[in-house]
Amino acid sequence: MANDRRKTGGGTADGPSANTMWGGRFAGGPAAIMQEINASIGFDKRLAPQDIAGSKAHARMLAEVGLLTREDARTIVAGLDTIASEVAAGRFKWSVALEDVHMNIEARLKELIGEPAGRLHTARSRNDQVATDFKLWVRDQIDDIDRALAGLQAGLADKALAHAGVVMPGFTHLQTAQPVTFGHHLLAYVEMLARDRGRFADARTRLNECPLGAAALAGTSFPIDRHRTAGELGFDRPTANSLDSVADRDFALEALAAATITAMHLSRLAEEIVLWLSAGFGFIRLSDRFTTGSSMMPQKRNPDAAELIRAKTGRISSAFHTLILVMKGLPLTYSKDMQEDKEATFDAFDSLALVVAAMTGMVNDMEPEPETMRRAAMGGYATATDMADWLVQAAGVPFREAHHITGRAVALAESRKISLDELSEDDMRRLDPRLTGAVKAVLSVAASVASRKSHGGTAPQNVRKMARAWIKRLAKADGPG
Ligand code: ARG
Repeated sequence: MANDRRKTGGGTADGPSANTMWGGRFAGGPAAIMQEINASIGFDKRLAPQDIAGSKAHARMLAEVGLLTREDARTIVAGLDTIASEVAAGRFKWSVALEDVHMNIEARLKELIGEPAGRLHTARSRNDQVATDFKLWVRDQIDDIDRALAGLQAGLADKALAHAGVVMPGFTHLQTAQPVTFGHHLLAYVEMLARDRGRFADARTRLNECPLGAAALAGTSFPIDRHRTAGELGFDRPTANSLDSVADRDFALEALAAATITAMHLSRLAEEIVLWLSAGFGFIRLSDRFTTGSSMMPQKRNPDAAELIRAKTGRISSAFHTLILVMKGLPLTYSKDMQEDKEATFDAFDSLALVVAAMTGMVNDMEPEPETMRRAAMGGYATATDMADWLVQAAGVPFREAHHITGRAVALAESRKISLDELSEDDMRRLDPRLTGAVKAVLSVAASVASRKSHGGTAPQNVRKMARAWIKRLAKADGPG
């Protein structure tokens, strides 16, 4: 991502010569430092495939409406294909003097095919060109991330099915609350990721209007066919207002907001993996493939990937902040500020792709320690709610009263350092005559989870059903689940 910079400082005397693309009215070249701050080629060369696709569509459309001969259009498209292969092979020579990806490609086209290259920029501007390129790039990212997230969901759903009946403590305030199953916990993330994919899909729908042909800002006097270029580039329609077309980057912001929320979700799972792998929990194992050792402490097995996933949320969300601050307060339409939309967005999507891939690897690698989880679930009086619920259901006690009776039972058990089901029948009767030994049937963690059959509850039979439904849905769907 490093800019191709020439560290030559300011001064015009030995500075570059006038830009061959727009230098008509310029006698001298820019100061070296002007060129350095102005050029975006160091990073926007990444948009070359999208830029070439946009130019090909534009050239074909120009020929279609009679603004370019068929022969010239063919020559231009062939030249652009040559450039695409030069770029793909890493043979393209990017020039800082030519500022950005658009002018680098047009200048190379001129070298390759001569005069017809100069006809390509008819009825367009770099303003609508860059908006189109960047939209195409963000759209590609959305499609890639959607596939990756579906893969992660599938990994989670498979694990959930395999461990639908593995009991673990569910937490609130990170205090043991009620027993749940490991499968249920994993399926919670499948739901979150489904909403994340939905957010990306929504962003894609709004993004999918083509700015090409808005020209610099006002539209054009040439009889262009914007529907044709929009269609060729896979957009649903052309944008409706030329000013809006070149002035906004909300499509990138929406995608970055979706990326930020996704990263936040994954950082929570990452944090849980860090906790679960710690000696105090010992809930899961990760193999050598997803842990690292310490250079000093031989016993260590560190969850570095999870920690880095947790940390990258900051980096991904900062891209949103970068772009919102770039855009905030800009008068319509295009201002050069908007060139600063790219680096942070590129970095955010690169980071997110890495995060999702690493999380998928970790989820597939992760194995629970059912015995440790079960023991932890039994501690902390996790089935106290079950006792209260039993008093309501079996003895008709109002819940609020049942809550108090159970609270006293917990206090008594705690003072004796025993579990609730180790209280004697006498103890129970003394706490409340309606509390009998029959309550013990609901006090095991297995009974507790099995009883939670309400819609969306943690009962293993629910979890199995949901996991199977997700696996089926993910196998056939290519939209957000
Ligand atoms: N490199 C520019 C960008 O990324 C392209 C658009 C330049 N437009 C202009 N009017 N100078 O924003």
